[in-house]
Amino acid sequence: MMRTIVLATQKGGSGKSTLAMGLAVAAQQAGEIVRLIETDPQGTLSYWQSCRGLAEPLVEPIQQPADIARRLDAFARGGVTLAVIDTSSGINELTRAAIEQADLCLVPARPCVADIIASAPTVKIIRASHRRFAFVLNQAPHRGPRASEAANALCHNDRDLADVVAKPLVTLRNDHQDALAAGLGVTEFHASGKSASEIRLLWQWVETRLIEGDESRMRLSPRTERHSLRTNAVATSANEASSSWDAGL
Ligand SMILES: Nc1ncnc2c1ncn2[C@@H]1O[C@H](COP(=O)(O)OP(=O)(O)OP(=O)(O)O)[C@@H](O)[C@H]1O
Ligand SMILES: [Mg+2]
Repeated sequence: MMRTIVLATQKGGSGKSTLAMGLAVAAQQAGEIVRLIETDPQGTLSYWQSCRGLAEPLVEPIQQPADIARRLDAFARGGVTLAVIDTSSGINELTRAAIEQADLCLVPARPCVADIIASAPTVKIIRASHRRFAFVLNQAPHRGPRASEAANALCHNDRDLADVVAKPLVTLRNDHQDALAAGLGVTEFHASGKSASEIRLLWQWVETRLIEGDESRMRLSPRTERHSLRTNAVATSANEASSSWDAGL
C-alpha cells in the first residue's frame, strides 16, 4: 500500500522543502520506497536532486493539478510505498490537488503565534478536504526554553491540539542547510547529529499517524468514509482538534 504525505502551508520559508527532503530520506532509510513530487516552480527539490545525482529518492516536478493523482497512481502501481509532495507557498490549484491526495498533511510553522496564525488558510483547505494533518514546529531555537514553551502553550490552550502537533520539534541547525547544498538528507549528512535524530523521530511519529489512518480506513467502507470522517471520533481526532483551534482564530 502506498501512502502520501503533503508538506503544505501558505507561509513561505517555513520548512516545507527542508522537511520533505529530510523525511523522504529518513523514510527511505527506514525501508520505504520513496518518490518526491515537487509542485513548486521555485525548484528547491529539483536543485537538491541535481546536487544528489541519480540517488533515490527521485524528485518529479509536476505543473498541472490533474497530473498529481495520475502520477501517484503510477507510483503505487510501480511499488512505491511513500510519496512525499512538496508544495509552494501561497495557495493555488496545485496545492489544493496535492492536499486532496494526502493521507497526512504536514504544516510546518516556526513556533510562534504569528506563523501558526499565518497557516490558517491552508488548514481551512485541509479541513474542507477532510484530510488528516499535523503542525510540525520547525526552526525552533536550540538554546533556552522558548520553543518547548511555545509548543506547550499551544497544546495547553487546546488539549486536542496536542494531537495535531507532531513530535519532536525540529530545531534550527546548520545541518539542514548544509545537507541541502550537499544533495543529502540530514540523516545522511550527519547521521549521528541531533538534527538527524529529530528527523528520524519525526518520521516515526508520521509513520504512526499513517498507520492509524490505514486502520481507520479499513474500518470504513469507501461509500461511508467521507461522511464518517466527520463523525467518527477515532478517524477525526485531527480534524476535530483543528476545528476548535480554528474557531479560536
Ligand atoms: N530546521 C531548520 N534549521 C535550519 N535551517 C532551516 C530549517 N528549516 C528550514 N531551514 C532553512 O530555512 C529556509 C527556508 O526553508 P525551506 O526552503 O525548507 O522553506 P519552504 O517552506 O520550503 O519555503 P518556500 O515557501 O519558499 O518554498 C531554507 O534556507 C532552509 O535551509
Ligand atoms: Mg519550498
